[in-house]
Amino acid sequence: MTRRPWIVGNWKMNLMRGEAITLAREVAAIARDVEGRVDVGIAPPAIWLDPCVGAADGTPLAVYGQNCSTAEKGAFTGDISASMYRDAGAVGTLVGHSERRHVFGETDEQTATKVQRALELGLDVILCVGELLDERRSGATFEVVERQLRVALEGIDLSRITIAYEPVWAIGTGEVATPEQAQEVHSQIRAWVRENYGDSDADSIRIQYGGSAKPGNAAGLLAGPDVDGLLVGGAALTAADFGAIISAAAG
Ligand code: PGA
Repeated sequence: MTRRPWIVGNWKMNLMRGEAITLAREVAAIARDVEGRVDVGIAPPAIWLDPCVGAADGTPLAVYGQNCSTAEKGAFTGDISASMYRDAGAVGTLVGHSERRHVFGETDEQTATKVQRALELGLDVILCVGELLDERRSGATFEVVERQLRVALEGIDLSRITIAYEPVWAIGTGEVATPEQAQEVHSQIRAWVRENYGDSDADSIRIQYGGSAKPGNAAGLLAGPDVDGLLVGGAALTAADFGAIISAAAG
């Protein structure tokens, strides 16, 4: 079973309008160059979604949201629904990013509701999971990851889900997981999917690694047989770095 590499840039709360449009155009051109060999996506700040969708138009670049509301619509000041993302041209959204969980205090249950809402309202989902440093040190890594997966994916059809394993201690810290550490957890995640959903989902679901992925470590991380792509933060903010990571995935 070959799973096409899937590289997504999570821009977080970075870039002004002009910078976002320029970068989206540059990444769209790169995505076109690697079409059929690597799938490429960006998750811009929601307020720049519309011009980024415009920049990606007619190219294979997938534009994602970074988060979505648990609700479909209504009195939720400041929130953005999955259907609004969809209407703006996004094809998917990240859900459960560690900054949502640990900075904004979102629970496993809220994450699960977001997964359901996004799928129902027409968005694909990149579900982020990962352990804190203390949890890794105490040997609880897979226990935490398994709980996050189990709660978020209960009763969910996995055909429109990507799982992103993002150890929290590696995000934005420059401290990357070793290829062996990433592969170990990825293989546990795939085994969990196999046990709970069967061979076909286990063989087809793509599992990205995220956490200080850079041009210099991308090839090593992607060499893991269960590492199917990368969710890239800081290094996705320039076309040079993000392009180099995509090239590493193209092999
Ligand atoms: P980073 O972020 O690459 O800057 O560590 C990754 C992420 O949060 O998705």
